[in-house]
Amino acid sequence: MKTLYVKTYGCQMNAYDSAKMADLLAPLGYATIDAPEGADMVILNTCHIREKAVEKVYSELGRLRGLKAKKARDGGRMVLAVAGCVGQAEGAEIVAREPAVDLVVGPQSYHRLPEMIARTARAGGHALETDFPALEKFDSLPAPASSTVSAFLTVQEGCNKFCTFCVVPYTRGSEQSRPAEAILREARQLADKGARELVLLGQNVNAYDADGWSLAKLCDALSNVQGIERIRYTTSHPRDMADDLIAAHGSNKKLMPYLHLPVQSGSDAVLEAMNRQHSADDYRRQIDRVRKVRPDIALTSDFIVGFPGESDSDFEATLQLVRDIGYATAFSFKYSKRPGTPASTMRKQVGEEVKTARLDALQKLLLSQQHAFDDSQIGKIQPVLFEKTARETGQIMGRTPYQQPVHVIAQPSLIGSVADVRIERRTANSLHGTLA
Ligand code: 5AD
Ligand code: SF4
Repeated sequence: MKTLYVKTYGCQMNAYDSAKMADLLAPLGYATIDAPEGADMVILNTCHIREKAVEKVYSELGRLRGLKAKKARDGGRMVLAVAGCVGQAEGAEIVAREPAVDLVVGPQSYHRLPEMIARTARAGGHALETDFPALEKFDSLPAPASSTVSAFLTVQEGCNKFCTFCVVPYTRGSEQSRPAEAILREARQLADKGARELVLLGQNVNAYDADGWSLAKLCDALSNVQGIERIRYTTSHPRDMADDLIAAHGSNKKLMPYLHLPVQSGSDAVLEAMNRQHSADDYRRQIDRVRKVRPDIALTSDFIVGFPGESDSDFEATLQLVRDIGYATAFSFKYSKRPGTPASTMRKQVGEEVKTARLDALQKLLLSQQHAFDDSQIGKIQPVLFEKTARETGQIMGRTPYQQPVHVIAQPSLIGSVADVRIERRTANSLHGTLA
């Protein structure tokens, strides 16, 4: 028996990939553990989306170098691997800077890990794989060994949009949609292992397009999979909100009333400089269309403040957009220069203090909207899908259709099923209620 420790940074797709890597290595005798000390293999599954990502990885590698040396002194071998988007972006540079690293593997080639491990064991030295054979990867991944109640399922990967701030088209490659058949098979396997909710993942998930299958058609087919009660998808681009997907929010009862539709900025000048390919009003119109079929839908977004050239009035336009839409929750970030992206060399970079002040103002507004949205649930009865026991004993945690976490005192036997809950109060980040 060998042990494997995987540390995951970044997005939900990285979490999915980490689970797949563990499934892939299980037949080789690797059992997952939750700390790196003494492990036979350590994988850092890295993220490159924002600042300091690379530095964080190198400092973590420095620490692991010590653990690897200790393992060697004890007569063992720790295989040290860097996976994910930093692996893709940095490639051979990683082993040049940190020779303790044995393998570097990009997000599209990790299915080759078993063979790479064998190669370094035989020949010593390093192995590097940063190709983009996306669909080959999916074909060679094993069936899921287990599942959580809410399970991630990658349906699409990569991006062709080339927003000027973003590394994803470079680290995840161009848009690829998995065949519907393969997705349906994985969905059935997940449901057999206990999944009741599927979260369909893709960097541009609503651009899903495989042999005439749209995301809406895929959601309809998935809602017929035995055991699946709820479907969500993330992350979408405003340009790809197709008519049939919007209609599905009205007709598909298993498609949850929740939409993560990043806008990034409310200023047309900034949107143009970001190459978002839509205006603020285009975005407002998309929201209107969805709200027409699903008035109660919970909306969320991503925002970047301090993009190069963003003026006070551009930022004010972002605040105005947020006031106009009314979000259930949202993520907001200071713009961070990413190497190799067009925005990183734009003149008129915004100063750090301005970014900090804008982020504070935006987050304050977003938080007040989140609290208002959560408070609007108090007194209502909502169907909650229970996912796990809560940290506080006697409680279990589940989610409303709007993705809000709810804590309830109830038997753990309810985990994996939907029950009506009367929402009674809100604490900082979650709701509390009793079984109705
Ligand atoms: N700087 C700051 N935020 C970024 N994001 C992507 N690239 C950058 C960057 N260079 C944010 C966007 C995206 C989310 C996943 O991360 O808001 O939607
Ligand atoms: Fe990070 Fe983006 Fe890569 Fe996800 S896709 S791991 S968020 S850089």
